[in-house]
Amino acid sequence: MKKLSVLLSLLLLSSGVAFAQKKTTAKTPAKKPTAGVSSALLAAGKAVYVQNCLSCHQADGGGVDGMNPPLTKTDYVLGDKPRLIGVLVNGLKGVEINGEEYRSVMPAQTHLSDQQMADVLTYVRNSFGNKASAVTVAEVKAMRAKALK
Ligand code: HEC
Repeated sequence: MKKLSVLLSLLLLSSGVAFAQKKTTAKTPAKKPTAGVSSALLAAGKAVYVQNCLSCHQADGGGVDGMNPPLTKTDYVLGDKPRLIGVLVNGLKGVEINGEEYRSVMPAQTHLSDQQMADVLTYVRNSFGNKASAVTVAEVKAMRAKALK
């Protein structure tokens, strides 16, 4: 009887250890986001990006040489937010990005909601090596209202 209980407690102990190990290995170190930019917000933005932008700007934001400009540390992405929002609201035709000329057309993305535009731009501004403040729904609303005038 004594032997059995020793065996049992050993079993319990080892399974407890295994459980504890599992718990610690399951934890992956979280990336440090910009203040006010939660991982949930980035996940929402990524989903919009994958569906609406990836085909042209690529998964790594590197773009396609001579056709679709990169989204990595460009003036548009990191600069003035109304101008950046304007790219989605109005589309874009003929720009110089990081010293390279692009003569393609980016179609306006007005099928996206204000929330989706804010999310995807926040994602872009905090991915591909970029780090900049979030774009808010209010900022998108203001730009869209202007475009309608
Ligand atoms: C059909 C291809 C296409 C899609 C889809 C597309 N873009 Fe673009 N985008 C372009 C092209 C082409 C340009 C440059 C326009 C030019 O040649 O004048 C551009 C320019 C830009 C720019 C400004 C220039 C730069 O590189 O910083 C931003 C920002 C941008 N796109 C973001 C987005 C986002 C965000 C989405 C998704 C919501 C998106 N684009 C979807 C093709 C596309």
